[in-house]
Amino acid sequence: MADHQHLTRHSPSSGPGSPDVWGVYEADTGSVQYVAACPETKQAVVIDAVLNFDPAAARTSTESAEALLALAEREGLALARILDTHPHADHLMAAAWLKERTGLPCAIGEKVRDIAALWRGYYNEPDAFDVDARFDALLADGDTFEVGTLRVRVMLSPGHTLGSVTYVMGDAAFAHDTLMYPDMGSSRADFPGGSAADLWDSIQAILALPPRTRVFVGHDYGTKDRDAPMWEATVAEHLERNRHVRKGTDRAAFIATREERDATLGLPDRMLHALQVNLRGGALPEPEADGNRYLKIPADRF
Ligand SMILES: [Fe+2]
Repeated sequence: MADHQHLTRHSPSSGPGSPDVWGVYEADTGSVQYVAACPETKQAVVIDAVLNFDPAAARTSTESAEALLALAEREGLALARILDTHPHADHLMAAAWLKERTGLPCAIGEKVRDIAALWRGYYNEPDAFDVDARFDALLADGDTFEVGTLRVRVMLSPGHTLGSVTYVMGDAAFAHDTLMYPDMGSSRADFPGGSAADLWDSIQAILALPPRTRVFVGHDYGTKDRDAPMWEATVAEHLERNRHVRKGTDRAAFIATREERDATLGLPDRMLHALQVNLRGGALPEPEADGNRYLKIPADRF
């Protein structure tokens, strides 16, 4: 997928109340970053922005987040908020960098508090991950807020993590790592705090949205049948042909298939780097006495 770095697609608004959406692909981690904008006021949010990371050198860079700022500029958008759907395990998030660069507030689901508690244990960092201080808002299930004339609704969608949220705005839903493109199905549910049963329930809530709802997913890695990454399909399309959850799928069968597949998957190569950064809102740990920042990796835990 390397050729597709920063491949950008526009999914146009269907009218007032429906956002203009741009997906910007990050090929190293197969992540999709989004900009969603009110078509009337041009107010916009960024969702799941990636901080680039080279695991071999433990070096960060910002070109993918810069691509989002360039897109906003090019399209004449006024960014209003930085949103994340969950603390990602496969990539570092760019919220802290974007916040420093733009002064905008950042937000994530409130159950990030529970995820932080879990990972304080894994990293033996009892005082780290003060998520209330790192994020400007911790959003609860059912919370709503405005972006221009768009109304955004927060839907708790646990399963992939225990605190993932879906952002629903008009005819668009940002469903992150619950669903994948229909030919891929769904995302794994075996990280600490994950649950295939919860994932099923969360997916059902998303698929209960109106059939024409555009569902935007968090990842795509391509398949042997298609070279280009894909990230948008409607609720109707998922119900018709999603390989894990199409209409008629049985809950128990889904859970069994999901758990069986998850048991074969290795950890994402950036997971242990990523969580300690993402639970700091995308900031690296504070510099030590020598002026350098260090990541901490638990050995023989996973
Ligand atoms: Fe994720």
